[in-house]
Amino acid sequence: MSAKGKLLILPGDGIGPEVMRQVRRIIDWLGRRRGTAFEVKEGLVGGAAIDAHGVPLSDATLADAKTVDAVLLGAVGGPKWDKIEFDKRPEAGLLRLRKELELFANLRPAIVLDPLVDGSPLKADIVKGLDIMIVRELTGGIYYGEPRGIKDLGNGIRQGVNTQLYTNTEVQRVARVAFELARKRGRKVCSVDKANVMESGLLWREEVTALHQAEFTDIELSHMYADNCAMQLIKNPRQFDVIVTDNLFGDMLSDEAAMLTGSLGMLPSASLGALDANGHRRALYEPVHGSAPDIAGRDIANPIAALFSFAMCLRYSFEMGTEADLIEKAVSQVLKGGMRTSDIMAPGMARCSTTVMGDSIVRALDKLSV
Ligand code: IPM
Ligand code: MG
Repeated sequence: MSAKGKLLILPGDGIGPEVMRQVRRIIDWLGRRRGTAFEVKEGLVGGAAIDAHGVPLSDATLADAKTVDAVLLGAVGGPKWDKIEFDKRPEAGLLRLRKELELFANLRPAIVLDPLVDGSPLKADIVKGLDIMIVRELTGGIYYGEPRGIKDLGNGIRQGVNTQLYTNTEVQRVARVAFELARKRGRKVCSVDKANVMESGLLWREEVTALHQAEFTDIELSHMYADNCAMQLIKNPRQFDVIVTDNLFGDMLSDEAAMLTGSLGMLPSASLGALDANGHRRALYEPVHGSAPDIAGRDIANPIAALFSFAMCLRYSFEMGTEADLIEKAVSQVLKGGMRTSDIMAPGMARCSTTVMGDSIVRALDKLSV
């Protein structure tokens, strides 16, 4: 059996390792039951890498990340490393990966599955059937802009500085991803900015509009200010199909959208780079939830976001849509059967551990693929 492709698994910190263990089981399952094997390497990122190598991402791991077809990441960060300088923190490892692999388009779907509709803090009639895709710019904006830092201005005055920067080409390439995705979905894009206060937002709006005019007039484009978007996501989330926005607004709006679905524990993400000459793109897949240090090591975390991230990997990096569908279907069946990790627990359902959720999903996969 020749390998379908190369994967680098970076479990990271907190609940990262335990949810990635369940992903490993699905990878093994694909080899065993579907004849699709992957070459899998593991590495360290975040606090785990700091403890082992003194840096949140070693050059060797970065080099590995550049040679594989896709990186699967768990989560980074935790109180243990909170006091470290900014550029040496666990999060810096993730930010470096994103930047060095040039993963400029971050896809964060928020989907409300029918069995979980009552788990949403919003009323079922507002979120039932919700299926939106947030495309967050991931390698620019205020996350990386210079100058940055904390300055001592003297006389007891200190000043914190960060800079929001966008070039036209950065806006165009992420907007193009959003328009192309919309073509395969509901054909609507809402571009989100603060063009009423920020020049970078004005440029964003002008560039998205120009690209739309030039290449995507078959897609319905609207614009929204970020604050209004935050409100509209609660008021009437189903008005959205694809939302495209900058790094910082995307960070916030994607957590908000995730919560519409009831739990951060359900939400996957894909971070994609540009297409190369062979039609491949660099890619990293990770659950939207963080390292959740408060529940780490207790086998109670929800592995579904990590499993769905792997399904996105199969779909976007390996054109294995059938297998991605299988995983999503297996999860859906297990949820219909009443199995719930603590984060999505509801009256009358059966509370289960991370491992038992994994067991049930593997069993459902077995049944689905006889
Ligand atoms: C995310 C996270 C990261 C971010 C952190 C861990 C650096 O919140 O992926 O949304 O802010 O981008
Ligand atoms: Mg975030």
